[in-house]
Amino acid sequence: MDNSTPETGRVLLVDDEAAFQRLGGNFLRSLGHEVNVAGDGDAAMAAFAQQRPELVLLDLAMPPHMDPEHGLELIPRLAGVPVIVLTGHGEHDLALRAVELGAWDFITKPIDPDLLRFVVARALRKSRLEAELVRLRSSQGSDELGLIGQTPPMQQLRVMVRRVAPTRVSVLVLGPTGTGKELVARALHEGSPRRDGPFVVVHCGALSAELLESELFGHMKGSFTGAYRDQPGLVEAAHGGTLFLDEVGEMPPPMQVKLLRFLQEGSFVPVGGRTQRQADARVLAATHRDLEAMVRDGSFREDLYYRLKGVVLRTPALAERMADVPLLAARFLKGVAPQARFSAGALAWITSREWPGNVRELKAIVESAGALMLPDQQEVDTELLHLSAGDSLDPRRSPEPAPGTGVLDAALNELERRLIQDAMMAAGGNQSEAARQLGVSRVGLIKKLTRLGLR
Ligand SMILES: Nc1ncnc2c1ncn2[C@@H]1O[C@H](COP(=O)(O)OP(=O)(O)OP(=O)(O)O)[C@@H](O)[C@H]1O
Ligand SMILES: [Mg+2]
Repeated sequence: MDNSTPETGRVLLVDDEAAFQRLGGNFLRSLGHEVNVAGDGDAAMAAFAQQRPELVLLDLAMPPHMDPEHGLELIPRLAGVPVIVLTGHGEHDLALRAVELGAWDFITKPIDPDLLRFVVARALRKSRLEAELVRLRSSQGSDELGLIGQTPPMQQLRVMVRRVAPTRVSVLVLGPTGTGKELVARALHEGSPRRDGPFVVVHCGALSAELLESELFGHMKGSFTGAYRDQPGLVEAAHGGTLFLDEVGEMPPPMQVKLLRFLQEGSFVPVGGRTQRQADARVLAATHRDLEAMVRDGSFREDLYYRLKGVVLRTPALAERMADVPLLAARFLKGVAPQARFSAGALAWITSREWPGNVRELKAIVESAGALMLPDQQEVDTELLHLSAGDSLDPRRSPEPAPGTGVLDAALNELERRLIQDAMMAAGGNQSEAARQLGVSRVGLIKKLTRLGLR
């Protein structure tokens, strides 16, 4: 690559000082950059969404109170592009915190134009190389992150994972069951400077408040019946690494308070202990529940919620990225039966099925179909898939009564028929719209229409 080529790009300059907006802006324009300016956080986010800058220059002192905390809060929200922070003299601590939160670099004001030109060009170059690398890797449908998928939501997710992984920011992974939340958490750990440290998973939903507290923070000998010796907790086990709080939405309220304290101060007290201890663990959390709704109804602490969601990553349901299904299925099959292929019918079945259990379900069915192949078989066919999905393909072979013959089935069919008819009427015969109202996929609706003889 020719390093002497001037790199120019779209730059967003966030600074409340009109004089610097003008001077800095004009200087950058004179270098060939396309510059947008914003004077406060809201304007910055609006410009960020609209201009899609490749680089953000951010002065941390933000209106209304010129509190640098407001500027810091902005950094994780600008994820996906390099952020260069502008600080005053002697604000090294602030600059370092900014870098911890994911800022790319910092420059001290008053700004040396040569330095600015150099830092901006370097950041643009690096971010373009990265974007190119991501594009190349994802054109193959997966990469070292282990997240398979070529559809736009998956590509975006990978970009975000790569961007956020090296930072210390807490990440909240949201998405339905089986969509790869834990996989994302592991990728974040693997992509961080802590990758050689431990990755510790805590299943917050599996234990009572008391047990969870002792599990997380440890306990002292004699603190309860059965506590025969001092036992360190998972927080300490994760020291120097990453603590992944799975199903954090299930965490009982008394524990939420203690977790918040640990997140804010890095300190905790073991059960039955008197003195505080410290541990240095990056915290990642995931849940399939609607945490925002839980905050509204009071079952999840608002302060903890904001502390956890430094950055929110969403793993999309398979229904939102059906185009990834053949790729996922092929990879999973390759894992268990490298020479095997899917028959045309099998592929059709896979791509038209609804996957309520998302990737986990797809993976389980494909892998067990691969394992059920006979030694002389080269293709996974529909029959094998039905077998591993536990469906009964042929009613003559199934020992249970054929579906739709019992009283309950008849009643349910009648109810379903009425709901579908109503939705179709309301949607003026538009299947996609009716499917949306009913909360099923269009393919699912068509299947039901056919089965109920409504087509
Ligand atoms: N994008 C993907 N690429 C490859 N494998 C995936 C992907 N998403 C999920 N998987 C696989 O599917 C299975 C389920 O993923 P994971 O455990 O991360 O889901 P989850 O979102 O944590 O689910 P739950 O909410 O039920 O805990 C794992 O075997 C994982 O490797
Ligand atoms: Mg999980």
